[in-house]
Amino acid sequence: MVSRETFFIETYGCEMNKSDSINIVLSLEASGFKQVKNEKEAHIIILNTCCVRRHAEERVFGRLGYYRSLKENGQENMIIVLVGCMAQLLGKKVTKLFPEVKVVAGTSHALKIPQYVMEYETTRQKQVFVDRDRYEFSSYGVKRAEKHSAWVNIIKGCSNFCSYCIVPFVRGPELSKPSDVIVREAKELSDKGVVEITLLGQNVNAYGRDTGDISFARLLEKLNKIDGLRWIRFLTSHPKDFDEDIIKSIASCEKVCPWIHLPIQSGSDRILNLMNRGYTLKHYMDVVGLLYKYIGDFSITTDIIVGFPTETEVDFQKTLDAIRAIEFDDAFTYMYSSRPHIRAEDLSDKVPHEVAQDRLTQLITLQREISLQKNKKELGKTVLGLIERVSKKNPQESLAKTEKAKPVVVVTDSKPGNFIEICIDDLSGATLRAHEVREACRV
Ligand code: SAH
Ligand code: SF4
Ligand code: F3S
Repeated sequence: MVSRETFFIETYGCEMNKSDSINIVLSLEASGFKQVKNEKEAHIIILNTCCVRRHAEERVFGRLGYYRSLKENGQENMIIVLVGCMAQLLGKKVTKLFPEVKVVAGTSHALKIPQYVMEYETTRQKQVFVDRDRYEFSSYGVKRAEKHSAWVNIIKGCSNFCSYCIVPFVRGPELSKPSDVIVREAKELSDKGVVEITLLGQNVNAYGRDTGDISFARLLEKLNKIDGLRWIRFLTSHPKDFDEDIIKSIASCEKVCPWIHLPIQSGSDRILNLMNRGYTLKHYMDVVGLLYKYIGDFSITTDIIVGFPTETEVDFQKTLDAIRAIEFDDAFTYMYSSRPHIRAEDLSDKVPHEVAQDRLTQLITLQREISLQKNKKELGKTVLGLIERVSKKNPQESLAKTEKAKPVVVVTDSKPGNFIEICIDDLSGATLRAHEVREACRV
């Protein structure tokens, strides 16, 4: 017999969603619910969803099908809760497609799940909330994803409306969290032993503009002064807002890691314009030039879309050329996915699926080769590594991450959360390996 207070949560989508899930767990625990690790032991199933590409939605539909089968085979009282971006997009429609879904909580309602579940239990009325008037930051304090690392959400939503992107429609406009709250949270995390924080937002570089708070550069400088913190990272930057002031601040703050995730999306100005990205390839290259000027040794990762409507072979070649010129350490590569609401859908000249698929394969092959060459440049370097976890395959090995966010396998008996000095000395396949030089710091 499954206890009515138990819940199981699964999360799809970006870091923002993963960070939201931590707050959802906190809100449920604060109301007396208990998280379980197996869906078969749970009375409440929470799916924190993504809808950025069609595939993300299809995965959730697949899971709903699976939960339907569990419900039909003994777990008939199970309550399914849909939260996150797909919940926001589909609202009531989901409950029609999947009557098993009893609670739909849009992106402004994630923290109200305990209340909605209790209301459903009492009234047996489906609870669907997708309006935006309760847009709020978590007041449940901070919780760590891991013992030593944590996300800190600094800005919600997005006001950019890139023509392919559904995020502004489901997450609403930009809303910056007050800087004093961010600094307090970061201090609280550091007091709890967190050594690495990652600031989160769809466009962190726009921080403070909507509220008139301090700029992103000044925020980095404030956070850099927090004693216990060792590494500060941030996701995601936008080329149109990533200015010299921010780059100078990264260079001058010793805790801010030299790793930038800067989505380029395309190497063709015509496509960038149609995407409403607000920059040209030249601007992007200038930003990279400034990174070299002020930071020197840094890593850069990106997002790229192929098969955007009207993309020609010439446009695509420009993307490949840009990738060769910039030499990204890594890239998340996507095939354009048709989505509701987005302006790109008004463009009539769609790229056939096979063409887009072929471009994606070419892109992945090229990027793999570049990533390999970039990793080769790390060989022979002695750097600081933060141990993330012990290897599942070999308990004598651990996975460490460098300042430049490179994953490195290292033989060590030092524990996760510790910094060790490592010498990167081998590249086997795509995996960097290192040996420990000395333990630099125990947490
Ligand atoms: N805020 C971040 C990330 C947004 S979503 C940014 O501005 O970069 C993550 C990535 O998904 C995007 O960078 C983009 O490359 C990709 N993406 C978004 N919408 C898409 C769509 N309709 N089809 C394919 N890829 C998409
Ligand atoms: Fe989407 Fe563009 Fe906003 Fe990123 S900046 S979330 S790609 S609209
Ligand atoms: Fe997906 Fe929403 Fe993130 S649509 S990518 S979970 S903001």
